[in-house]
Amino acid sequence: MIDLSDLALRLEAASDDRALAVLGFRDDDRAEVRLAIEAALHEPERLAEIQTLAERLRSAIGRIESPADSLELPPADSTWRGIGVVPMLALLAVADDVRSFHRSRGISTAVSDCSLSDLGQQAWVHRRTFGAFGLHTYEWMATAFSGNLYWLGRLQFNLVEHDGEWMLSTHIPEIGPLTPESVDDSFRQASAFFAEHFPDYPTRLFYCGSWLLDPQLAAVLKPESNMVRFQKRWTPTGEIGPADEDAVFFVFRRRGEFDRSTLPRETSLQRAILDKLDSGGHWSSWGGTLEKERT
Ligand SMILES: CC(C)(COP(=O)(O)OP(=O)(O)OC[C@H]1O[C@@H](n2cnc3c(N)ncnc32)[C@H](O)[C@@H]1OP(=O)(O)O)[C@@H](O)C(=O)NCCC(=O)NCCS
Repeated sequence: MIDLSDLALRLEAASDDRALAVLGFRDDDRAEVRLAIEAALHEPERLAEIQTLAERLRSAIGRIESPADSLELPPADSTWRGIGVVPMLALLAVADDVRSFHRSRGISTAVSDCSLSDLGQQAWVHRRTFGAFGLHTYEWMATAFSGNLYWLGRLQFNLVEHDGEWMLSTHIPEIGPLTPESVDDSFRQASAFFAEHFPDYPTRLFYCGSWLLDPQLAAVLKPESNMVRFQKRWTPTGEIGPADEDAVFFVFRRRGEFDRSTLPRETSLQRAILDKLDSGGHWSSWGGTLEKERT
């Protein structure tokens, strides 16, 4: 149980500038986190809210079988210092617990730090999307902070179970081009990493569920583009569902209400996404698998 004085100590330690940099927070966001922590420390009601969330997050650490998505975290408090800021402080409060779990699996500090730095990356994505401090993707962060997300080179991976089989689900953060060499290297790292640190979850396949696997993309982008070459690696397992919002979010960093005619049409991808939507078409997310031995 994290009592209130322990929580205050955790939050004070988390507001250290270097600690925030290690967690991937960029300058503007580090300043905002520090202000939020300072404010929370003087608001008993807020501390109680963070405490409840932190306890729930902590109970999920290391529970690979029960994904963090099933934690049913309450909706982000959108009025207090920005969307998802209360959950962000709860995540910060349990970061050391996740690190302990990583150590218990023999995972290096470098991989541990890199994996948890998705928190700062998501704060940056939030700022790019809404022009403000926050963390609207905090439910996704619950997976990383359950000890089931590893950032290994270009890609991130977590263990997922499909039809009784464990697979390495693959995620593509926005950190630059998706070159085939960087993807090969990441797959190699992931195969070795999970075999060493999670031998109790043997895997045969990588899995990817993403708008990047929509076959319509291959029809509109150059065949030699990184995205088409990435898509071609996977054996499709079928359509998962609508992804118009995902495509717009990942390409334009927009969510909710906005005027589509104001979005840029500078790249072939931007034009392709908008042309399809403007003509009444849709994007979908697709699943695909890839045998580890073939990477
Ligand atoms: C996936 C990603 C890394 C691919 O980037 P990349 O390696 O540069 O892609 P490609 O080389 O295949 O680009 C093909 C074209 O699309 C453009 N493009 C690629 N990603 C773009 C993006 N996010 N926004 C705008 N244009 C983009 C390229 O500029 C290029 O345009 P051009 O033909 O006019 O020169 C990038 O789209 C990205 O960071 N996306 C956000 C993360 C994401 O979607 N993750 C999956 C979540 S399910």
